[in-house]
Order: sequence, then C-alpha cells, then structure tokens
Amino acid sequence: MGGRYPFQRVDLTVEGKCYLNGEILEVTIAIDDGKIVSVCKPTRAPSSEERVVVKGKKVILPGMVDMHVHMRDLGETDKEDWLTGTLSALYGGVTFVGDMPNNKPYMNEIRKLALKKKVAGSKALVDFGFYSGFPAKLEYVSELIEFGILGFKIYPHDYSKDLQALIKRSEKQNALIVFHAEDPGMVEGHYEGIKNVTVHHILRPEEAEVTAVRNLLGLIAYEGIRIHFTHISSPNAVKEIIGYRAKGFKITCDTCPHYVLLDSSFTSKFGGIAKVNPPLRSEESVKGMRGHLRGGLIDAISTDHAPHKLSEKLDSDYERIPAGFPGLEICLPLLMKLILDEGFPLEILSLYSANPAAILRVPKGRISPGFDGDLVIYDYSIRWRVRGEEFHSKAKYTPFEGMEVVGKPYMVIIRGVVALEDGDVKVEKGFGRYVSPYGSRVSRLEA
Ligand code: DOR
Ligand code: ZN
Repeated sequence: MGGRYPFQRVDLTVEGKCYLNGEILEVTIAIDDGKIVSVCKPTRAPSSEERVVVKGKKVILPGMVDMHVHMRDLGETDKEDWLTGTLSALYGGVTFVGDMPNNKPYMNEIRKLALKKKVAGSKALVDFGFYSGFPAKLEYVSELIEFGILGFKIYPHDYSKDLQALIKRSEKQNALIVFHAEDPGMVEGHYEGIKNVTVHHILRPEEAEVTAVRNLLGLIAYEGIRIHFTHISSPNAVKEIIGYRAKGFKITCDTCPHYVLLDSSFTSKFGGIAKVNPPLRSEESVKGMRGHLRGGLIDAISTDHAPHKLSEKLDSDYERIPAGFPGLEICLPLLMKLILDEGFPLEILSLYSANPAAILRVPKGRISPGFDGDLVIYDYSIRWRVRGEEFHSKAKYTPFEGMEVVGKPYMVIIRGVVALEDGDVKVEKGFGRYVSPYGSRVSRLEA
C-alpha cells in the first residue's frame, strides 16, 4: 500500500471494499495510463478524471487470470472463436486468458502463432497470451520464446519426443513447461467391457495421471526449469508434485472447478457433456482435491474452457465424443460459492488471479502498483442457477447445469477501461491485447 502519486490527477479511481492478498480492506485504487499506480486509504486518494465508488454487497477483486483455455480459432470457429470465447471470459470476470496450442493448425512455430496473434488481436475483448505446442523443430525454441509465448504445452502424445532437449533449451531462457499428465500407456489399456461415457474414468484412471507426474518429474526435474502441471484431477498426483517441490524444484500445479465440485456420477447424469480429460473422479478423490485446495497445496485454478459442438457432445458413440466443456463464465461464481457457502479460504481467489499470473510472469491479476489496471466489481448479493443456454460461449451446455452459484461480476475494468457494466459490453472487439511474460523480447519492445 502507499500513494505513489498523491498529488497527481489520475485517470480513474475505484474506491470500496477490496480483496487484497487474502484480506478485505477499504481502499482506493488509482489507475493511470492503464496501470495501477497506487492502492491507499480512501482519505489519501489522488484526484481523478473518473471515480467509481463501490458500495453495498459489492467487492472489488483483481481481474481473473485463466491460464488454460481453448479459443479454437483459427480452424474450429464452429466451436468457439476469439470474440465469443473472450465474451464468455468477460462475463466471468476474466481479464486475461492463456490459450492452448491444440488448434487447427497446430501452434508449434511462430509463422502460425503470428497468424493467431493477428486474428485474436482483431476479435478479443480481454487480454490474452499463447502457449506453443512441442516445437515443430527444436531450433525454434529460442524464437518461440522471443515471440513471447507463455510456455510450451506438452501433451501425452509428446512424451516420446526429445523432452530433455526441449527442457535444456528452455531452461536457458527460463521458459515455462506445462504438462498434461496422463500416461498414454495406461489409458484405455486393460479395459475389456463395453466402452461408454459412464466408464470414462475407468478407461483413463487416476493412476495414469500419478504415473505420468512421477515419470515426467523423474525425467526432467532440473534445478532451473519451471514446470507446471495443468488440470490435475487426482489428490495423489498433488502429493507427488508437493514431494518434488519440497526438494527445491520449481514445480507448480493447477486444478479445475470440475475436479473439486463434480464426481464421476455426473458423467452418468450428463453423459457426453461431462466427458473431459482427465475424467471426473470418484467422490473420495474429489474430497481429497478439496482438502488440498483448502490446505493451500494447489497453486492455481484454471477452467480448461474446452468448447465443442453440442451435436458432438451428444454423439452416442463414446469414442467420437470429444472431451471438454466450457467453463469461463462460471468459474468465479463457483469459487464464490466455495468461499461463501462452503467455508473455503478467501485466498482461493488468488489461485484464479495473482498466482497464475505469477506462474506465467504476466503483469495481471494483482491489485498492486505496476500491474495492469484490471478489476472486477463483484456483486455477491445475488444467487442464481447455472444454465448452459445462457452462456455467451458458442458451447451452451455444462455439467454444472442447475447448480446454485453466488454472485456475478457487475463491472469489469481492463487496463483502466470499463469493459463490462451491468451486463453490457462497453468495449469493441479487438480491445484485448497480446501479453507476453516479463523479460521476453516482445514485452521489452512493448513496454
Ligand atoms: O477435455 C479436454 N479437452 N482435455 C484436453 O486435454 C483437451 C481439451 C480440448 O482441447 O478439447
Ligand atoms: Zn485443455
């Protein structure tokens, strides 16, 4: 806290109850030129061109950071595109998204990423960054990092590639490696019954995740390398990760709302709509994940927003049903439900804001001087039931259908600009900006 520019007139001040690193405090946040310049007691606030005063059952939160989404542009705009995907983000209070590389075309060289940057830049409503897949050629590692990627995303089908070489090259430039952990040899291996969605979690067992985490860490945990395991679903995998971290390695993980709120019975209830990889787990594992979340062992929360066409999700053929469902619009209301109804610590809000931003090294998700002026004014007076048909994503279905959640973003501010107010979008498509990690060449040039 502290007023850096106490005598200077700033563009915007936002005043009221605010979530600041685990506490709720009465403050004034001053934003100038898109950046937070001070956070101080309201009595010490600088004067401003515009002033927002937050009262009643509303609280100021940092803009949320979703480090794992699938916007589907370029080649699968029938599932989602940068406009509808980021519209969904905006309604969910998410001001930055990290987009995965499994697009058509597959994002593993800068020629393709540059095209994606152009398309996203012309459509996005919130800020964004990209991961690269395993590079098309190892020589591309440097230029991909220089391009400002958030990191390399490694899927199970990449495990057999030269991970050591990728790690060694990435380590030099301090790049993040993100893993989807499911051992390919243990997936769909020994099951002899009829395959359908209700046995999806048996076909892709938890042990496949635990084994992948263990093997990958055994192979690639070097002192300097930053490793992140995304969408972790199994409490034993979290334990493996914590064990390595205790040895001093820089290893982090995230989980998704569906692994702490839905168990595999939802796959029986919702069929293909609830098919996701990794699958929804047993009731006991969900309890375990909740315990780890409460206990502060999980670093971040992401949605794995993975829209597909409803017709595909309703296919009667198990093999043909694509895995994944949308999540961007309801993650924050689900976290609020966990906090206000189920006694989870308030700090879990940092798992969807400051923590993923710190893992990705982007100046987002934190109400602190120097960070982007991204805020959510959250109205927690309302309770509502999740209805997929109301989503702004192209994918209008969800296994959370009918679940009661708490509150909604009333206002979303991105870089000091009101982007959403009382249900109305206030910015044009193309407002969203490309964000790259601190220290990458692009972020130096754009600073
Ligand atoms: O459920 C999933 N959907 N898991 C993945 O790893 C990929 C994702 C997708 O792209 O649809
Ligand atoms: Zn994903």
